[in-house]
Amino acid sequence: MDFKKYVTDKLKELTGLDEQVISSSLETPPDEKMGDLAFPCFVLAKVMRKAPPIIASELAQKFENDEIIDKAQAAGGYLNFFFNRAKYASELISAINRAPEAWGKSDIGEGKTVLVEYSSPNIAKPFHIGHLFSTAVGNSLARIYKHLGYNVQSLNHLGDWGTQFGKLICAYKRWGDKEVIEKDPINELLKIYVKFHEEAADNPSLEDEAREYFKRLEDGDEETTSLWSYFREVSLKEFQRVYDMLGVKFDSYNGEAFYSDKMDEVVDILRKKGLLVESEGAQVVDLSDKNMPPCIILKSDGATIYATRDIAAALYRHRTYNFDKNIYVVGNPQALHFKQIFEVMRRADWEWSEGCTHVGFGLVKLPGKNMSTRHGDVVFLEDVLNESIEKTREIIEKNSPDMEDKDEKAKKIGIGAILYTFLKNSRDKDIIFSWDSMLDFEGESAPYCQYGYARGKSILRRAADIDYSDADMSKAVSDDEYTLIKQLNSFSSAVLDAADKNEPFYINRYVTGLTKAFNKFYNTCPIMKSDVDLETKKARLALVDAVCRVIKTALYLLGIETVESM
Ligand code: ARG
Repeated sequence: MDFKKYVTDKLKELTGLDEQVISSSLETPPDEKMGDLAFPCFVLAKVMRKAPPIIASELAQKFENDEIIDKAQAAGGYLNFFFNRAKYASELISAINRAPEAWGKSDIGEGKTVLVEYSSPNIAKPFHIGHLFSTAVGNSLARIYKHLGYNVQSLNHLGDWGTQFGKLICAYKRWGDKEVIEKDPINELLKIYVKFHEEAADNPSLEDEAREYFKRLEDGDEETTSLWSYFREVSLKEFQRVYDMLGVKFDSYNGEAFYSDKMDEVVDILRKKGLLVESEGAQVVDLSDKNMPPCIILKSDGATIYATRDIAAALYRHRTYNFDKNIYVVGNPQALHFKQIFEVMRRADWEWSEGCTHVGFGLVKLPGKNMSTRHGDVVFLEDVLNESIEKTREIIEKNSPDMEDKDEKAKKIGIGAILYTFLKNSRDKDIIFSWDSMLDFEGESAPYCQYGYARGKSILRRAADIDYSDADMSKAVSDDEYTLIKQLNSFSSAVLDAADKNEPFYINRYVTGLTKAFNKFYNTCPIMKSDVDLETKKARLALVDAVCRVIKTALYLLGIETVESM
């Protein structure tokens, strides 16, 4: 049962106030000792022509002998409610353990489609730490929206088109060695790309050659197209390794190239709407009244660009998915770009474009020299992930040399630690990577939450022969137990907040708090000790079970895996 709803209904009956007014004024008291819910009586002072403290104490009397509310207490102008803990606990725990997958779920997304575009690395370029930030946030958002019943499509808008491919093809034709490239594709492609720029500084005709290659590529020439596909394929293979490590999946890899033949229509539409003006030979949409630089749609040489491809992509997505939301998880440096294209779409009278949202994020600072890379200056993401796994492996070796499946666990913990770090604070904040805090098993970290989960699971394993399905939860309502139980209940609001603000950190904060409360409970409430009576044991086991299930689901929504023992 919904305890808040119960209080709301009863207050409605007693005061005649509107349900909406009551439920929106009900608060959680700042201190648990003040009860579970508080109703500020100030709203009633005018209509009832009484002072709020008097109203509060009069209302309090009406809750005497209530089955659901143990106590209603006037405190100044507030009316504080204390729930019947046993009832609350048994309703909640049985609801979780009966249908654990459903906990925190909702149907608010039913019949609605959300597109989450994230990761979107560039072909033949390193998958860098910013792309990882996008991947962590995007993957988590996709899981959160799914949990809320939305139809979610995960999109990877690969950077696989543009004049740089003319340069790369030119470089490959001159210095490319397929055998060498095969061994370490992105790194080798990057090398010849860099070489192109060095050589072109002395020999500008290379630039003309590159332009010619890109033109051929645009015209669908067979040889250049097959080279381009080759670069794309080997790059994707490398990206895929990272996605597999992270457990990330996409429904579409339609990158910029996919939209290259869909831009004429956009240019046409914008022209017909009278939005295009000429500026230094280019066709642009003037946005000066919005204090933005013009959005360039066609360059002076007729070539199309990034923004145009993005506009074509949005139109395609609208037609293909008829989305309610189209979310772009891309770093803050591109905020202006998205503002510009959204404004252009608005001016094109595409009403659906209101569903487009840029979800930005801050910068990532790596711990400089401490980050080993096999590639010199460029920090390759795979190296960062591997380093985290190795460091975790060392910690395990040192602290628990007898642990089983060390490699498997080091992987889940090491990768979890990195994902957690990206989702720890609001997205806009810059992140400084620190191995010490990331892998601090006692601090706010993924290993801390994973350890809490593993601890719970180990208790449940030890109690394998106790059937606690009929536990009497009135045996587990001491303060520490009750605090933990209430935490379980706030999972759904954490999920809703996370979706509402496109901020996975609400769930991160939630699961960290839940684990903290669990540890406190673990330290104060013995479970398997011989002097604990069976009924108390059962109630505590049921609670541990529910906590484990919720930690697991919450971590899953962050993209983080759990391990059964640590
Ligand atoms: N490939 C781009 C980059 O690495 C990110 C693409 C962002 N998405 C978009 N629809 N423009 O910077």
